[in-house]
Amino acid sequence: MEKILQFIKEIYPNRDFIPLHESKFLGNEKEYLCKCIDINFVSSVGKFVDEFEDRVASFCGTKYAVAVVNGTCALQVALRVCGVKNDEEVLIPALTFIATANAVHYLGAKPIFVDSERRYLGMCPSTLQQFLQENTYIKDQQCFNKNTNRRIAACVPMHVFGHSVEIESIVEICQRHHIVVVEDAAESLGSLYKSQVTGTFGKVGVFSFNGNKIITCGGGGAIITNDGDLAKHAKHITTTAKKPHCWDYEHDEVGYNYRLPNINAALACAQLELLPDFLEDKRKTAQLYCDFFRKENVSFVSEGPDRKSNYWLNAIILNDQNQRDQFLKYTNENKVMTRPIWKLLSSLPMYADCETTSLENAKWLEERVVNIPSSVRLHQQIKGGE
Ligand SMILES: Cc1ncc(COP(=O)(O)O)c(C=O)c1O
Repeated sequence: MEKILQFIKEIYPNRDFIPLHESKFLGNEKEYLCKCIDINFVSSVGKFVDEFEDRVASFCGTKYAVAVVNGTCALQVALRVCGVKNDEEVLIPALTFIATANAVHYLGAKPIFVDSERRYLGMCPSTLQQFLQENTYIKDQQCFNKNTNRRIAACVPMHVFGHSVEIESIVEICQRHHIVVVEDAAESLGSLYKSQVTGTFGKVGVFSFNGNKIITCGGGGAIITNDGDLAKHAKHITTTAKKPHCWDYEHDEVGYNYRLPNINAALACAQLELLPDFLEDKRKTAQLYCDFFRKENVSFVSEGPDRKSNYWLNAIILNDQNQRDQFLKYTNENKVMTRPIWKLLSSLPMYADCETTSLENAKWLEERVVNIPSSVRLHQQIKGGE
């Protein structure tokens, strides 16, 4: 344990406290923020919002991107435009951040919790396949749960800590069962699966630009898709569902005020320019960790041969819960921030009555996985973009 602590301190030298993931503003952030203030467009309309949407779509290679205030509402809106309704069901991993389940709940739908696989920590395709085979029937090209007779409207795989889930298999299984895939790529901006950007495999993908993510604009999110109707609908309902008119208020459905403010979008544009440098830096840090942990015989979560991870949060898998707890205590007491993976969402009181597959792997991981400091290590200014 001492050796690990020492190594982390070598990676992040001269620090009294080493956080898990801090934001880095090394490019045009101040310039763009000042522009917003100078032209007095800081709120819900402005050129940075459009610019950011164009840049996100272009980075991902999708036709459309819709900028919103955070990743949670991006998920909620993505599910809604994909047709998830009250009293329906959505397949999600048991081992994910709470937002994945909450977004389902906000729509009045119920999560079904699926097990994970141990290597990349994401939703396990074979468990998903088995669950659907044994527990569902198809009627009018829609999938229904035999146990509840509710429609299973969507599946939300999540790319844990930036490592791509087995997304191709999951999309293929879901297609066979007439289930829409919404990708929770909140943590995996810039990660690839077979050279394709994560977030672009499902019908819709979702990102977060929260303060702890690989790039941040304070708070923010984005919805990406190649479907023009879905993009248009997402934009409409995230801007209060107001019909365009010079002065009149007319709203044609219940919408939300989820539009990303221009001032956040300005920050986001500057951060997106830095993403290639951040990705390179994070991958170098991960390689250092990987080499070190191999020598120490500690299991480090690495990308697979056909994937490229953004290594948003580096993670190790310890031997058991006892060792994990000792490690968390020792590192945090020594001012090196480490954190356990999430608790299984199916164990939380508000989701305890939801259906689950066997959660053997998710439980195993819950007891052992720990995140270690992963911030970008660059310090000097980088002149990104234009
Ligand atoms: C997997 C996952 N989904 C959704 C979110 C929600 O994003 P936000 O915090 O921007 O609402 C996050 C991160 O915070 C996340 O890690």
